Amino acid sequence: MVSKLLINGGRKLGGEVKVQGSKNSTLPILAATLLTEDECVLYNCPKLSDVDATIRILRYLGCRANRVDSTLIVNTQDMKRSDIPHDLMREMRSSIIFLGVLIARCGRAKMSLPGGCELGPRPIDLHLSALRQMGIEISEEHGELECVVNDSIKPLKIALSFPSVGATENIMLTAVKCKGTTIITNAAKEPEIEDLADFLNCCGAKISGAGDSTIVIEGVDKLHGCAHSIIPDRIVAATLMSAAACTSSKITLDGVIQSHLSAITPIFEEAGCEISCKDSKLTIDAPYRLRSPKLIRTMPYPGFPTDAQAPVMAMSCKSHGLTVFVENIFESRYKHIDELNRLGANIKVEGKVALVDGVRHLSGANVRALDLRGAASLVVAGLCAQGNTQVSGVKYLERGYDEFEAVLSNLGADIKKI
Ligand code: UD1
Repeated sequence: MVSKLLINGGRKLGGEVKVQGSKNSTLPILAATLLTEDECVLYNCPKLSDVDATIRILRYLGCRANRVDSTLIVNTQDMKRSDIPHDLMREMRSSIIFLGVLIARCGRAKMSLPGGCELGPRPIDLHLSALRQMGIEISEEHGELECVVNDSIKPLKIALSFPSVGATENIMLTAVKCKGTTIITNAAKEPEIEDLADFLNCCGAKISGAGDSTIVIEGVDKLHGCAHSIIPDRIVAATLMSAAACTSSKITLDGVIQSHLSAITPIFEEAGCEISCKDSKLTIDAPYRLRSPKLIRTMPYPGFPTDAQAPVMAMSCKSHGLTVFVENIFESRYKHIDELNRLGANIKVEGKVALVDGVRHLSGANVRALDLRGAASLVVAGLCAQGNTQVSGVKYLERGYDEFEAVLSNLGADIKKI
């Protein structure tokens, strides 16, 4: 059923909210469970359509995966296939992360090429070139990828030309059980890479340096099962902070890792919000009128995350002054702008630069989400717009936000799914 979100904007938020587990950690860690035949228990897994799609792939491969609240229990002992059909691949671009694990577990993998997505072209040349250098024969025909390990997987010393998150993960996963030492330089440093390494090390892998630009993976013969808790989702935290900021509210986020937000909190402080942190709690207290944060350039971690660009842009629509956004990571990541303008924002785009001239009020309208973070930005804007906003394209939101309308309702927002 196609659902929409109906938001009656302008209400202040208040109270405390627990931040869900990270989507971008959960997906590769679920795939990584294929590297052991023992049971793995993953805590703090958000309920998301992308997580469900990953579970469907695991089940198709013959694995067992069961959820009890936010805990997922995975057992891959009965795995019997090494292919992923087109319809399952199409559901989620990031299923390319199964490439490395299938190769490591079965010595072969077959899946359709992920192709483009809502964010524009999503090449996987860095993944494929690294795997080829590891001795894997890869053919790309009729939109399909077929990979075979002819001899054995070879350890690799590779300097990535760009610190791609997915390529770093695929190389790590392929190398974990290969004989010898693999070294990745200019690796992605995102916290989700560190979380994946922590999970693998907990299973007996020998990975050091994850979270820094050089990652060293010493191959081990075997991995065993483990219990691991997924890190909190820093992008959901940034979205909730944006919602609080543009509604002049004070809210507390529970379960955050402050260091993961080091490029995000200064933007809110620049906008005039007071941020205080104690242990895993972060309180944001927003002023009556925000100041514009001036310049936001998306960069690989520890820079400002591209995934937070859209929700923070929604917050900047009502800030006093001009905010310049430069989107450096993805080509097509401004699809929310036309919709924000429908709500009364004043945003102009030229290539990868967007200029937001803050207005005093947004006014509710019918808007349509076209991608995950764009959907979140429209919800944030709807919360601070006067009157009713109806957001369609809710399926995108459900890819990354666990029962978001309930989370926001609990904070005092007038929002419901229809
Ligand atoms: C991951 C995240 C996504 C986030 C992105 C950047 C997951 C499931 N998704 O996506 O939410 O927005 O990191 O932080 O974790 N590139 C190439 N060739 C490649 C690989 C990437 O040119 O082989 C380019 C991409 O087109 C893009 C840039 O590198 O322009 C970043 O991509 P990458 O870091 O790989 O992002 P993902 O792993 O796809």
